[in-house]
Amino acid sequence: MKYQLQCVQCGHYSSGFAAWFEQDQTCPKCGSKHSEVEYQADYSQLKTLYKQEADSFWHYFDYLPLEKRENIVSCREGAIPIESWDFLSDYARENHGIECRALVYRNDLNGGTQTFKDVAGSMAASLFKEHGIDQYCIASTGNTATAYAKYLSLAGIAFKVFVPAITNEDSIKEILSYGQEVVRSKGDYAQAKKEAADYARQNKVLISAGNFDPIRVEAKKTMVFEFMRQLGKMPEVYIQAVAGGTGPIAIDKGVREIEQYYPEVTLPRMLLVQQDLCDPMVQAWEQAVKGGFPEDYHKNYPVIDNPLTRVSILSTGNPGMYPVIAPIVRKSGGSFLRISEDGLPALARQVYDQRGICLGPASIVCLAGFFRALEEKRINQGDTVLINCGEGVQRAAAFHKEVMAVPGK
Ligand SMILES: Cc1ncc(COP(=O)(O)O)c(C=O)c1O
Ligand SMILES: [Zn+2]
Repeated sequence: MKYQLQCVQCGHYSSGFAAWFEQDQTCPKCGSKHSEVEYQADYSQLKTLYKQEADSFWHYFDYLPLEKRENIVSCREGAIPIESWDFLSDYARENHGIECRALVYRNDLNGGTQTFKDVAGSMAASLFKEHGIDQYCIASTGNTATAYAKYLSLAGIAFKVFVPAITNEDSIKEILSYGQEVVRSKGDYAQAKKEAADYARQNKVLISAGNFDPIRVEAKKTMVFEFMRQLGKMPEVYIQAVAGGTGPIAIDKGVREIEQYYPEVTLPRMLLVQQDLCDPMVQAWEQAVKGGFPEDYHKNYPVIDNPLTRVSILSTGNPGMYPVIAPIVRKSGGSFLRISEDGLPALARQVYDQRGICLGPASIVCLAGFFRALEEKRINQGDTVLINCGEGVQRAAAFHKEVMAVPGK
């Protein structure tokens, strides 16, 4: 037995993904959908893996919930480079007197669909292949759907995607190009989720289990291993644009999985960024800070119906994962940050002028968080700051055009 799934609520063990899928991805004892994977693994081997080159996150096969390597469906995802972006460190020094190391995790270089959802797509397709699953569905605002569409089609698995009304056309076109099906909701993301759940129930099709889905979490936790492999240490600060919240949940899982063997692996201060036109988690956090973090602070959050944001990837107005994520952020000594959506094209242009690449809008939300963090004095002298840029620009043609229209330097 390589691994088991353990229920986070009641501790009950499920023997593996075969049982988990059989149980409709639910704990048979308490009904919770939140389980975590636990391994019978020799973690001393991780050190050896850190010394080697890696061409995908499957480098960490022994710590992933797949039994047979022959089931791997991969396009070289994960194990992407972490780059030093000196213009960011220079800015921090010159404008805030802060000496820090600003690093960017280049998810736009993932080999599948160029977003940080590729590792989850690869994990899902491989697992479904191993367990003979031939149909799957999801509600998604875009990048998860695109990644799953590609990887599941490579594994010959039929996939149906329910998207909110505002989803950008580029994402829809790409999903269709992989031969998968798109159902466009007339409503927002919450509505698309309801339609997907109804479809899954009525047709007995497996559905993505949301942001703490162990498939996604296990894939993304390998970020922690990659930070250790590439940097030799954990960053002090981790910045990410947040919508559903799989990223922070996965980093926390990765750290907890190995901290007993590697005490130097600690949770970075999490700075999670939302744009002002869809910022329910920031609002909830501000409320909690104001009230001095009362008991149950994490259960109080606003729901923004039909958010007006143009960053469709980050349009989760109902932050259902906030109760899970807020305690992680608090434990890490981090915060939620709000940035202005208006400033995105100009910042993307600055990145283009400095680095010669155009990143997608969700990546720029994340980068804007770096500047916001400096303003709020959340970066300390000597910090290593890992900025997780989640996507390239290829599915955001309108944004790309806007960026190119901004006068260059
Ligand atoms: C590029 C990009 N950045 C950030 C996010 C937010 O991810 P999370 O699920 O960790 O909130 C997503 C996905 O929604 C994304 O595609
Ligand atoms: Zn349970």
